[in-house]
Order: sequence, then C-alpha cells, then structure tokens
Amino acid sequence: MAKADTHSTSCKIPRHVAIIMDGNGRWARKRHLPRVAGHRMGLEAVRKTIQACVEQGVEILTLFAFSSENWRRPAEEVGLLMKLFITALDSEVKKLHRNGVCLRVIGELSAFTPELQQRITAAEILTAGNSTLTLNIAANYGGRWDITRAARALAAQVERGELRSAEIDEELLRRQLSLADLPDPDLFIRTGGEQRISNFLLWQLAYTEFYFTDLLWPAFDAVALQQAFDSFGSRQRRFGRTSEQVEEAGDA
Ligand code: IPE
Ligand code: IPE
Ligand code: MG
Repeated sequence: MAKADTHSTSCKIPRHVAIIMDGNGRWARKRHLPRVAGHRMGLEAVRKTIQACVEQGVEILTLFAFSSENWRRPAEEVGLLMKLFITALDSEVKKLHRNGVCLRVIGELSAFTPELQQRITAAEILTAGNSTLTLNIAANYGGRWDITRAARALAAQVERGELRSAEIDEELLRRQLSLADLPDPDLFIRTGGEQRISNFLLWQLAYTEFYFTDLLWPAFDAVALQQAFDSFGSRQRRFGRTSEQVEEAGDA
C-alpha cells in the first residue's frame, strides 16, 4: 500500500498539499493592471502559503508554477514569468533555507535557460538537507510528460535486458515518476474558479481530495488555506472501502 494510504484519515492537517495557483491574470485585469502585476502579487501569496503550511505542520507542499502548455502564452508574458522565477529564486532561497525548507523543482527543466537551471540546481543543493517542509515547484511540468518519461525509462531498462516487460507493475512505474520518494498529495487546491486538472499531477492525484475556490490566487492567504483544511478534515477517505470498514478500522 502506498504511504499516503496508510496515513491516518482522521488527520485534519493534510500531510501533502498540491496547489494550482490560478487567477493571477484575472486579478490584475480587474485592477486594470498588466498580467505580470498579478504574477508578482501571486508570489506574495506563495510566501504566505509557505509560511502557513510551515505553521500548520504540513510536510510537503507542491505548487504548479508553470505548465508545459504555458509556453503557448504571448512571448512577453512567458519572458516576464521566467524573469520573475529567477528574481524569486534570488530573493527567497536564503530565507527558505533559514526556515528549514527543502526546495525541489520538478518538470522538464532542460527547456529553461542555463542561468535559470544553474540557480535551480544551486537552490536544491543548498536546501537538500532541510526537513521542516519539502516545497516542490512544478515548472514546465505536465502530468502526461511525467508518465511518458517514466514509461520511457522502463522501456530503456527492458532494452538493456535489466527488466522483462511482464515485470512492469504500478509500483515500478510509480518509482520513475516525479515525487516518487514522497507520499501522494492528500489535498489538491485550485484557486481561480476553474474546476480542472490542467495536466498537473495526473498519476499522483488518483486518491487526492479536491478543493476548488473562486478566490483568485493573489488573494489566497492563511484564512483561505484553513478553509480548505476544514473541508478536507470533514471528509471520509475510503480508498475503495465502505464507510463501515473505515470506521471499524478507526481511521475515519
Ligand atoms: C496562474 O494564473 C499563473 C500561471 C499559469 C503562470 P493565470 O496567469 O493563469 O491567471 P488567469 O487564469 O489568466 O486569471
Ligand atoms: C494551470 O493554469 C497552470 C498553472 C497554474 C501553472 P492555467 O491557467 O494555465 O490553466 P488553463 O489553461 O486555464 O487550464
Ligand atoms: Mg489561468
């Protein structure tokens, strides 16, 4: 059984929270500001959310910052987002390190400039030993990319004669995915009112509780996070079993 499944369902605080931070553009448009102003304010909401997660004892926070489809946006917006990513790494990493945050970036990083890749690697190395909170930033990430890459890795093992195709099972595939060493998300939050996954963690969200809010990401804060946790705490996670079985097992 996967680690997440054995985590007591009576816990009110999710161990792993995954968030699609959506609505920056609309937040800016409402204020007659350029979209990038929304992304800047979005960074402020990221800071608040990290802080609140540390305070609440969340172990893992995974944030969707840039999807593999976001390259389709106007070149100017993509360029500004990349700049903001670099600025944020420069300004935040030391503070994250002081607060015991282990930073990791998941996604197809080879598409980024060598400068950005270097900064990402440096930040990951600096914070690798921290254990207060694991913060995964999904950048140029796509759930389909993740699964495809895992399939390719297993195929390569078969080609080398290290594995027989009949031996491939869920566990072997899972181990090739991003975040393989971490339990799956317990709670998924999407701000901005849309109710879709947009190619986020497709495999890893199989049994995650979903929570949608109309709040635009720059307006998200500790209170909004608490509301999501309250909703999470009121749910019974059955993982295929009946309510009676869950109650009997004492983890309802
Ligand atoms: C999410 O906000 C941030 C990124 C995708 C980088 P959006 O930029 O998608 O904001 P909306 O959805 O246009 O309001
Ligand atoms: C999802 O938001 C990606 C991120 C938040 C990084 P989008 O705004 O790109 O999603 P769609 O296009 O509305 O599905
Ligand atoms: Mg959006």
